[in-house]
Amino acid sequence: MKPITIAVPKGRVSKVLVPLFEKAGLDGSVLLTDDRTLIRESADGRLRFLLLKPDDVPTYVESGVAELGISGRDTLMERAYDLYQPVELGIGKCRMVVAAPDGADIPAVPRVATKYRRIAAEFYASKGVQPEIIYVQGSVEIAPLVGLSDVIVDLVETGATLRENNLVERETICEISSVLVANRALFKLRHKEISPILRRFQDAVEG
Ligand code: PRP
Repeated sequence: MKPITIAVPKGRVSKVLVPLFEKAGLDGSVLLTDDRTLIRESADGRLRFLLLKPDDVPTYVESGVAELGISGRDTLMERAYDLYQPVELGIGKCRMVVAAPDGADIPAVPRVATKYRRIAAEFYASKGVQPEIIYVQGSVEIAPLVGLSDVIVDLVETGATLRENNLVERETICEISSVLVANRALFKLRHKEISPILRRFQDAVEG
């Protein structure tokens, strides 16, 4: 039988993925192999993994080249994807925050550096503020330190990056974690194979 293809993120979350797969009774051990192959198959031939940049996961699932994917809520919020989002996985937990240099006075209409333009714009719009949004791709914490922006909107996990760069969290926008996403059409087409996988993940999260 054709394997079920799962788009998985490379990086931080990948370390906690394997134990989650294990808990769900699925063989994800091939994700631990230390090589550069980007397409991998489980030993039992049931699962095929695409190892992607986290932001690309929804694109592969929405297009239908993968049935399932594991994506951060941040990515899903930032761009509008038409995906079935059946299971909140409870891994990769972090939060989206507004942060600024410790002790800084923040203007009422701040300049905001972020990778998350939409999340930032919607957050400020909900407060009736239309800030200048400055798009940066990473190492966002530098922006207010050198005067590119007044604040940043970014993810905080341990808080170490903020602390070590003398920034403090000013506001929490929302909690973020990883979500199991599914292609809507393929979910219907391969329902018999996919729904037990979703159930296993749901049980693993609840257990
Ligand atoms: C993320 C995020 C913060 C950092 C927060 O960046 O953008 O910079 O992690 O984690 P912490 O609270 O545990 O320090 P990432 O390491 O993914 O790299 P990036 O700057 O290239 O986005």
